[in-house]
Amino acid sequence: MKICVIGLGYIGLPTAAMFASKGHNVIGVDKNEQIVSALNQGEIIIEEDHLAEFVKTAVTEGHLHGSLVPQEADAFIIAVPTPITDEKKADMHFVKAAAEEITPYLRKGNLVILESTSPIGTVDDLICPIIAGSGLEIGSELFVGHSPERVIPGKILYELVHNSRIAGGINQESAQRIADLYRTFVEGEIYLTNARTAELCKLAENTFRDINIAYANELALICEKSGINVWEAISLCNNHPRVNIHQPGPGVGGHCIAVDPWFIVEKQPDTAKLIHQARLINDNMPTIVAQKIINLTQGQDKPQVTILGVTYKPNVDDMRESPILTLISHLKTTNIQVIAQDPFAKGYQGDPYQAAAGSDLLVLGVDHNIYRDLDLKRLAQAMRTAKLLDTRNFFDRQTTAAAGFEYHLLGDK
Ligand SMILES: NC(=O)c1ccc[n+]([C@@H]2O[C@H](COP(=O)([O-])OP(=O)(O)OC[C@H]3O[C@@H](n4cnc5c(N)ncnc54)[C@H](O)[C@@H]3O)[C@@H](O)[C@H]2O)c1
Repeated sequence: MKICVIGLGYIGLPTAAMFASKGHNVIGVDKNEQIVSALNQGEIIIEEDHLAEFVKTAVTEGHLHGSLVPQEADAFIIAVPTPITDEKKADMHFVKAAAEEITPYLRKGNLVILESTSPIGTVDDLICPIIAGSGLEIGSELFVGHSPERVIPGKILYELVHNSRIAGGINQESAQRIADLYRTFVEGEIYLTNARTAELCKLAENTFRDINIAYANELALICEKSGINVWEAISLCNNHPRVNIHQPGPGVGGHCIAVDPWFIVEKQPDTAKLIHQARLINDNMPTIVAQKIINLTQGQDKPQVTILGVTYKPNVDDMRESPILTLISHLKTTNIQVIAQDPFAKGYQGDPYQAAAGSDLLVLGVDHNIYRDLDLKRLAQAMRTAKLLDTRNFFDRQTTAAAGFEYHLLGDK
């Protein structure tokens, strides 16, 4: 088949290359000229394990081409961004533009699949009315639906093949055609449903995780007040065969878990009360951590704090929606001087010992594995006041004490 993939980011590019690797003729479309010209030379500008070699092979074998504009094809896959506005509403302008741009190229029998994470009703209420402008009858001449993506950055190529997938169509035939197309590379189960259910499922999966983390964060605050170590308590609870409480922390970041629940809240604010509350609890964690930092540096002349880790999760360079960046902005409104260090994040890659020099508090914000190699004694000696606030239960209390630190743990007395 000839497949046109619109949007060549973390989702669209691996998907395009995957279809190409199975012999389909794939046109990868992006507005970004740098992405398209790199692709046509067999190169990529994003970081993802094994993707560079995979794309190079697909381009060299002649199955994958880059283009700035769509072309006629059998199937169109939309994988453009769906960010959130400052008002916590889904910004659908990329999806709308992509649907408008493919419309002139649609032909009888084509399949249009939305992969972007989107609010319920996007296929029915936004995409279908636009592509109906092709003059083709939706459902019998044009087959349409949503097949959400659940891959995790770092393992995208593996998970594209092995994860199960939902094929949600505007009718049974659309769902079946979507499933048949993905079956060319998906080895996991493919479940057929309608488009609205598929849209809801993607949002509900990430919302489940957000609510679970909010619960862990609330437990952390309850435990602090009750003189209990929440990390020990959660680990004991999780020995129950049907309990899986997530971990507390300084907040929730990234462009999925911290964003997708808002797509549900936006549509049904009066009903989605638990979902909304979970978002507020998680979004409040940077403020809670900021208050702890203020308390721990109180009385200090010109206090200085060093934060280790600014990305939204460990061992990646992605800072989107990072709660640590929110924490830093909070602290900048106080008299505390903040120095942040992160070996992965652009602009923060300084030496950790220099970053800690003269500080009154070290804050572990992100549990990057590489921080295991830190010489805690050297860090403590570099500081003016050797205090440590651990927001991830990363360090061992005894070890940090032996290195000379006064140790404080989020979620502990
Ligand atoms: N990255 C992930 O881990 C992940 C996981 C699951 C779902 N998703 C969802 O997948 C969607 C895409 O995410 P992503 O991470 O690949 O985004 P991205 O920002 O990495 O890439 C999107 C690409 O689309 C291009 N684009 C925007 N409008 C366009 C248009 N009209 N025509 C052609 N190209 C256009 C951009 O230039 C960009 O290169 C989002 O809805 C996201 O929520 C992402």
